[in-house]
Amino acid sequence: MGTAPPLRHDGRVSAVQPRPPRPGWLLDEVASAGRENLDAEHVARYDGKEDAGAADEVALLRRWGLDERSVVVDLGAGTGQFTLAVAPACARVVAVDVSPAMLAALRARVAAAGLGNVEVVQAGFLTHQHTGAPADVVYSRYALHHLPDAWKAVALARVRRMLRPGGVLRLWDVVYDVAPDEAEERFEAWCATGGDGVVGQWSRAELEEHVRDEHSTFTWLLEPMLERAGFVVEEALHSEDGIFARYLLRAGGP
Ligand SMILES: C[S@@+](CC[C@H](N)C(=O)[O-])C[C@H]1O[C@@H](n2cnc3c(N)ncnc32)[C@H](O)[C@@H]1O
Repeated sequence: MGTAPPLRHDGRVSAVQPRPPRPGWLLDEVASAGRENLDAEHVARYDGKEDAGAADEVALLRRWGLDERSVVVDLGAGTGQFTLAVAPACARVVAVDVSPAMLAALRARVAAAGLGNVEVVQAGFLTHQHTGAPADVVYSRYALHHLPDAWKAVALARVRRMLRPGGVLRLWDVVYDVAPDEAEERFEAWCATGGDGVVGQWSRAELEEHVRDEHSTFTWLLEPMLERAGFVVEEALHSEDGIFARYLLRAGGP
């Protein structure tokens, strides 16, 4: 990220301190954000092809302690399906994304909904500086795979520091629950589920691009990383095809 301070959804510069220049060794999170996520046409199609099931996620998080006092951080918020669903159920939502195209859509939706408790921040897993009371909930769906594994570990440690002890990380991603010698067969089987077009569905070419160019990892690499970052795995769901995982994680003590 550059040195520009984060913008609020109303276009004003937030009170967050300007960040120092990005060190030369730091991953460029915009360059690794995924070609499609930087493409305004994909962003315009996104909600038609991906339903985040956000109302169900809010209901689940209520069972894990989300309430009207909660501070929520949505990392890789995209078009804001979860942000918009959770805002009426909590005190503050910080919606973070690196993609200018996604952020433009998100700001427009937040403004149209008239939500006064949502801050939209242009930053990433590796640069977002959480301010104010520690988060009670961090939510991240289908975004962490944009980071190579070493950076995932760094990002998870940063997420742990955003949360209060006992706070919850709800994490979904494409995470391969397969052995290395069956990976190629599973990748091909997943790509074969893609359609021909990109409207209202994920195309085969998009799934191929995910496997080829993005950084989805294996469950047996990610899960030790989660524990090493200080999370207790309360729930782990692996899809039968070995492609998707959902976690409910509790931040351990300080
Ligand atoms: C597939 S979309 C998911 C959006 C939303 N969470 C959902 O479930 O619908 C992935 C999002 O992650 C964002 N992203 C990619 N790399 C990121 C990073 N390093 N930090 C934060 N967000 C990132 C992309 O810009 C994109 O908006």
